[in-house]
Amino acid sequence: MALDSEGLIKLFSYYRDAETRGCGLLMRMMQRVDDPEAQVLFSRHVDDETRHAWLWTKRIKDEGGLPVPVPDGYQRRLGQALGIPRSIIDLFALTVVVEQRAEARYKEHLASPLCDDKTRAVLNAVTKDETWHISWMEEWMLKMAREKGEEQKVKDTLARYREAEQEVWEEIKEDEREWLGFSFSDTQAAQSAV
Ligand SMILES: [Fe+2]
Ligand SMILES: [Fe+2]
Repeated sequence: MALDSEGLIKLFSYYRDAETRGCGLLMRMMQRVDDPEAQVLFSRHVDDETRHAWLWTKRIKDEGGLPVPVPDGYQRRLGQALGIPRSIIDLFALTVVVEQRAEARYKEHLASPLCDDKTRAVLNAVTKDETWHISWMEEWMLKMAREKGEEQKVKDTLARYREAEQEVWEEIKEDEREWLGFSFSDTQAAQSAV
């Protein structure tokens, strides 16, 4: 079975939306961090995320469509679950958790029997950047935490964010099953049965 263009365009629009939201958050964070080394890392990271957004846009156009509006369910529910980030370190923790979800989701989609060749090429291109995004942000966050003597507190925040994000993701999977008939996060057998 293959997904129809309409389903694919909706899914790619979600991915594109996540990339552009990530970009927006990174640019706001970049304005709050003075360190020159961090500025370099943020610049390269933003460059990656804008390119990722373009790759999804191009994939949508290749499918003969245009990006469609997507509900902000993930961000809204995450915001409700985590509360307002109180510091720049909280924003780093939020970004790490969201990036880890993006990486995991892209890998699940890559492993799916329903993944087509054009999508696989985009997924491979975007996934290879996610590993260093997560590692530089996590390292920088812990460096800032150590300087403030708050390493344990920040590790606890990260663990709390991860747990809350997992709960939100379960709800997103349910939404995805409603409009696709399955979730790319389901087992391969469940996807093949659709
Ligand atoms: Fe990305
Ligand atoms: Fe990323």
